[in-house]
Amino acid sequence: MDKKKIILDCDPGHDDAVAILLAGKNPKLDLLGITVVAGNQTLENTQRNALNIVQCLGLDVSVYAGCRQPMIRKKMTAGDIHGESGLDGPVFEPLTRTLEPEHAVSYIVKTLIESDTPITMVTTGPMTNLGMAIRMEPRILDKIERIVLMGGAYTNGNVTPAAEFNIIADADAAYVCFTSGLPITMVGLDVTRKALCYPEIVERMDKVGNKASKLFVDLMKHFCKSQKEVFGWEGGPLHDPITIAYLIDPDVLTTKPMYTEIDIRSTQSYGRTNCDYFGYLKKEPTADVAIDIDVEKFWNMIEEGLHLYD
Ligand code: BDR
Ligand code: CA
Repeated sequence: MDKKKIILDCDPGHDDAVAILLAGKNPKLDLLGITVVAGNQTLENTQRNALNIVQCLGLDVSVYAGCRQPMIRKKMTAGDIHGESGLDGPVFEPLTRTLEPEHAVSYIVKTLIESDTPITMVTTGPMTNLGMAIRMEPRILDKIERIVLMGGAYTNGNVTPAAEFNIIADADAAYVCFTSGLPITMVGLDVTRKALCYPEIVERMDKVGNKASKLFVDLMKHFCKSQKEVFGWEGGPLHDPITIAYLIDPDVLTTKPMYTEIDIRSTQSYGRTNCDYFGYLKKEPTADVAIDIDVEKFWNMIEEGLHLYD
């Protein structure tokens, strides 16, 4: 069986860390590289966090640092959820892993141009690196199989009533990606808010009893606490790894094709993913939008993913 080639562009971030964990050893996926962007925290923080995760899990995958600010607007972070470091909670060994010298955007362009087979771009942070790569070298469009992103919502946002963090943090970059004509799977808050990591899930994963499950538990302790403080939930929504779960087994999600437009013009709903759920606009769909998740299957996949580590 051919492995699906992916590049994971992320801003770790507790749930990004679990996305790396889930992708890192899965036999169906070939994780070519991890590219990092500013988002949940500054680039200095997110790049260090990515290195800490791959070192802690013993993953043989290169990490590239990308854009430190959005294309146009001012940078925003999510310290209320992910803490000052962007990955508060786990305590890591001194860092020996280092970043690759190449900029993430150059790496994305070069890898795609040189690839004989299409690559899936997974984004779990603001879409700055991918948007920049598309603008820098449009020939990469022929090499991208699909964009699978965590971001957006056709229901409620989590930064404003209208907008979700990854999209509002760089709506211009999201606009570039959503108007690229590429196949897109949008994994938004509509489904990720159903994957709530309740204490019993944390206990269940703890029982796996290896380094990956320890990391998961340490991550979730902080993440679930801050989600409760900010949103009042007993379990934190584990947004980002749902993109990876979908690539391992698409049956985990139900999707619906919708014409989807990123709002970069209005004030009130800036950064909203306007998804034409009912097809009012009679326009060609531009994204397969996730509308439901098999939550039990998802947690089984997380547990199986943890078991792949020593
Ligand atoms: C998204 O924003 C970040 O805080 C998370 O890592 C996730 O990618 C959820 O809105
Ligand atoms: Ca993220």
